[in-house]
Amino acid sequence: MSLFITFEGIEGSGKTTQISRLAAYLRARGLDVVQTREPGGCPIADTIRAILLDAANTALVPAAELLLYAAARAQHVAEVVRPALADGRVVLCDRFTDATLAYQGFGRGLSLPQINSLNAMARGATVPDLTLLFDLPVEIGLGRAFRRIAGTAGPAEDRFEQESVAFHQRIRQGYLTLADREPQRFRKIHAEADADQVFAEVVAVVEQCLRQRGRS
Ligand code: TMP
Repeated sequence: MSLFITFEGIEGSGKTTQISRLAAYLRARGLDVVQTREPGGCPIADTIRAILLDAANTALVPAAELLLYAAARAQHVAEVVRPALADGRVVLCDRFTDATLAYQGFGRGLSLPQINSLNAMARGATVPDLTLLFDLPVEIGLGRAFRRIAGTAGPAEDRFEQESVAFHQRIRQGYLTLADREPQRFRKIHAEADADQVFAEVVAVVEQCLRQRGRS
């Protein structure tokens, strides 16, 4: 039986550390896990990611940004996520359709119905079974993200970290609104805690999900 879990949250929420830990935990438990991310996850979508996150691309307009996220997702779902789920694997994906609603919708102010249509086109019937929302105050998340960037030598992948605090506040509130609208699918994780405590919460939520699906 397949399982599709997505990881969402503002910058610096720690979700990328947690997804790797969860992948290792589930593999040790004998599950066949695919760990992937958006934008990206396959060569064509990784090429689109490079355009989207390049800090030099200040001229990218919001509509083009939205369409590029949708294009990357369509490719990634068709090439990676859907085949893995069809093979009965567990797919852990760092960001998915909710990120587009939060960032391009609540953050940039683009039309939520239009984003829903594009999301539906890109993902087809592939909908997450569980979405973990790593929630924490924006100031703490951005502080962590800036410290991470300062410690990296590679090309600048920080187009979003350059946005205002108000932009990130809208994204946080947007995610919380989405979680309230779909309480069955979303689980809020208290991401302000230290990494071990956060991981314990993640494992508890995922184990409960596995029990409900008869995989314990
Ligand atoms: P990451 O920080 O999780 O690697 O995600 C890359 C950036 O892309 C992050 O700032 C959030 C942003 N993003 C969107 O704006 N819309 C989307 O649909 C996705 C998947 C990511």
